[in-house]
Amino acid sequence: MSPTDLVPTPTTAIAPFNATEFDRHVMGTYGRFPIALERGEGCRVWDTEGREYLDFVAGIATCTLGHAHPALVEAVTAQIQKLHHVSNLYYIPEQGELAQWLTANSCADRAFFCNSGAEANEAAIKLARKYGHTVLNIENPVILTANASFHGRTLATITATGQPKYQKNFNPLVPGFHYVPFNDFGALEDAIATLNQTQPQVAAILLEPLQGEGGVNPGDVAYFQQVRQLCDQHGILLILDEVQVGMGRTGKLWGYENLGIEPDIFTLAKGLAGGIPIGAMLCKESCNAFEPGDHASTF
Ligand SMILES: Cc1ncc(COP(=O)(O)O)c(C=O)c1O
Repeated sequence: MSPTDLVPTPTTAIAPFNATEFDRHVMGTYGRFPIALERGEGCRVWDTEGREYLDFVAGIATCTLGHAHPALVEAVTAQIQKLHHVSNLYYIPEQGELAQWLTANSCADRAFFCNSGAEANEAAIKLARKYGHTVLNIENPVILTANASFHGRTLATITATGQPKYQKNFNPLVPGFHYVPFNDFGALEDAIATLNQTQPQVAAILLEPLQGEGGVNPGDVAYFQQVRQLCDQHGILLILDEVQVGMGRTGKLWGYENLGIEPDIFTLAKGLAGGIPIGAMLCKESCNAFEPGDHASTF
């Protein structure tokens, strides 16, 4: 069989949309609105019945250029016509260009690319753990995260997420996480003092610059500046989850710019490619503990 035998012939009719059939075959992990979207242009979308909507959701804070933006269509078309996938076993010039742009325009020195926000946070968690083991000499590194935070839906990132509703029925969760109230510096100091009482355990603090899922809770400038100082004092890493607030969504390119601090590690996804799946974990050279073989992704 040749690869062309696998391509459906153009005469194959596309069935009209049928929600019952959809629900029979797609896992029911979402409570969907009864709208089937088919086409978009700028900030407008059209459903299969031809009805027009103003799209205030933008793919959950993702379609930064709107729908079918000519620059995005042209870039994706040009690339897919040239070469669409080779794995990370080879140099991909465009990947290097993006890393160069991201590091030139942020406090980071290095980028690891992946597919989603949860995956970017997984990379950050692994990097912090490796830093904990190899630099801080901690046997079982702990990462502090905030109540009402959101970091994704993989097992490690639901554990990092300080909202029990996302964890219910998925235990045993991943060990090595401890929760503190957001914007409460005293509580954070106390938690570190308690956890580090007999021997250092805390390797990193993971926070959103502005919590966007467990409410809309902006980070206090004074709090984040104290957190930064505390991390420096203890030699621990400050990881910021910029998956939702990064790429200009607070008016500055990065959420941390509003707080007058720099993280050691930050994570991106959502708006980074305007709706094409991508994630990135960026870090300063000082905490770049990864070596070949430590972390990977097919895409
Ligand atoms: C702050 C934050 N972190 C992580 C994620 C997870 O990203 P993804 O859904 O791409 O895995 C989200 C998604 O809403 C988010 O808002």
